[in-house]
Amino acid sequence: RRVLFVASECFPLLKTGGLADVAGALPLELAKSGLDVRMLLPAFPAVKAGAKRPKKLAEIKDLFGGPAALYSATAATGLKLFMLDAPHLYDIEGNPYLDSKGKDRADNHIRYAALSFAAAELAMGRHTDWEADTVHAHDWQAGLTAAYIALEDGPRPKTVFTIHNLAFQGLFDKKHLASLKLPRSLFHQNGIEYWDQIGFLKAGIVYSDHVTTVSPSYAAEIATEDKGMGLGGLLASLGPKLSGIVNGIDTDVWNPETDPTLPASYSRQKAAGKAKCKQALQAEMGLKQDAKTPLFCVISRMTDQKGLDLLLEAVPHIVGNGAQLAVLGSGDKDLEAGFMKAAKDHPGMVSTTIGYDEAMSHRIQAGADVIFVPSRFEPCGLTQLCAMRYGTLPLVARVGGLADTVIDANLAALQAGTGTGFMFSPVTQDALRAAFDRALKAYGNKAAWRKLVRGAMGYDVSWQAPAAAYAAVYDALTKD
Ligand code: ADP
Ligand code: GLC
Repeated sequence: RRVLFVASECFPLLKTGGLADVAGALPLELAKSGLDVRMLLPAFPAVKAGAKRPKKLAEIKDLFGGPAALYSATAATGLKLFMLDAPHLYDIEGNPYLDSKGKDRADNHIRYAALSFAAAELAMGRHTDWEADTVHAHDWQAGLTAAYIALEDGPRPKTVFTIHNLAFQGLFDKKHLASLKLPRSLFHQNGIEYWDQIGFLKAGIVYSDHVTTVSPSYAAEIATEDKGMGLGGLLASLGPKLSGIVNGIDTDVWNPETDPTLPASYSRQKAAGKAKCKQALQAEMGLKQDAKTPLFCVISRMTDQKGLDLLLEAVPHIVGNGAQLAVLGSGDKDLEAGFMKAAKDHPGMVSTTIGYDEAMSHRIQAGADVIFVPSRFEPCGLTQLCAMRYGTLPLVARVGGLADTVIDANLAALQAGTGTGFMFSPVTQDALRAAFDRALKAYGNKAAWRKLVRGAMGYDVSWQAPAAAYAAVYDALTKD
């Protein structure tokens, strides 16, 4: 089976969030079971710099306003790549969607329509002798792929579309239809039109043979008027054509036994090294050195989705109860300033790092006792999975993939020895505090805490089961 993945970012080449982690790890797991999976990526400078053994396969005279070329290459992880080199579109540094002021780049519609167009052509064998029988496109940036494929008269590959976040829909002015090679005949309510604009994400939903999202709970949530962000009716109408498959994480990248970024290694059986990681983290972050002080953390994009405003309000309560907080993140300027101020107000107890730092995120996951993920909505969430693998208990909102991956340590779970974290709902200040209080109480009972940590570290966060679920989706489609 030949599967073409299409995405705009992919770990370790280029990453702004969880999409890159998924795009970097899922194809590798699928390849283990014999699938020929290749990933088409735009050749952004970071992608070019990280790709090994690039080989030119084809030239494209004019791709949406300039010359382009298609390369094969390999990522350091062994992932097989196709790189779409089109300097007029992809020769941009930094964030691939936002400019240096944090605003959407003005030419994103061409940039990602071109990616999708090239994906469709590549999948149908126009550029090389490699053809795909299944195309798996991700998020709005690759949403038009299925629409371009649907325009084809002859035999077509099957198309799967994964929604990683319904909040980013890729909406653009209809005046671009012609320049994006989209015929007017697609511009209607049951096509790519969304309130008189072109909807890239909607196109992926409408024209794909199957749609998935990254957890069963989020799949159910988004198929409602209330949480469907304007697409609830459409998503509900898909019925069994919409399914939820929870993400895994790369358990080689996230392995406390071998992680080279950690000051000490540890495992579920030999957990002693975690205390050293905590001590080192307190030192690194300028937090008061004390093994007994519970250390909470956050590693997150700072946006409304992540509910960090609720956490910021709770800082006096957290510190007042003797807990420390280490924050790593960037995004919303008010939130950044708020957490910087909290660190200033509570020296030795709160530490904030504004920025994006992969290695630091590992050290925090290893050194902390609890990670906060108070999201208002969360398609899947990966930081709670990394946390469990590192014996750090997630304290999460009961939404989307967070609800699907964490077992709340309530009385019953504690008695049965099955808890892996703490959950709160509704997503309010009061409920967050109550969960914090419960976590603190549990931390006070050493034996109980050890049991919870062991439970969390034993939870299967690997890609094995999810990859098998995706393979089953591909199988079902190609059997039709
Ligand atoms: P989202 O994709 O919505 O941002 P996820 O939890 O799915 O949320 O994935 C976020 C990924 O980005 C995780 O791998 C997390 O560790 C990482 N991450 C988020 N913020 C930072 C940061 N400031 N520094 C390093 N890694 C970060
Ligand atoms: C999105 C979501 C996140 C999910 C990630 C990978 O960025 O916000 O919940 O884990 O995609 O699927």
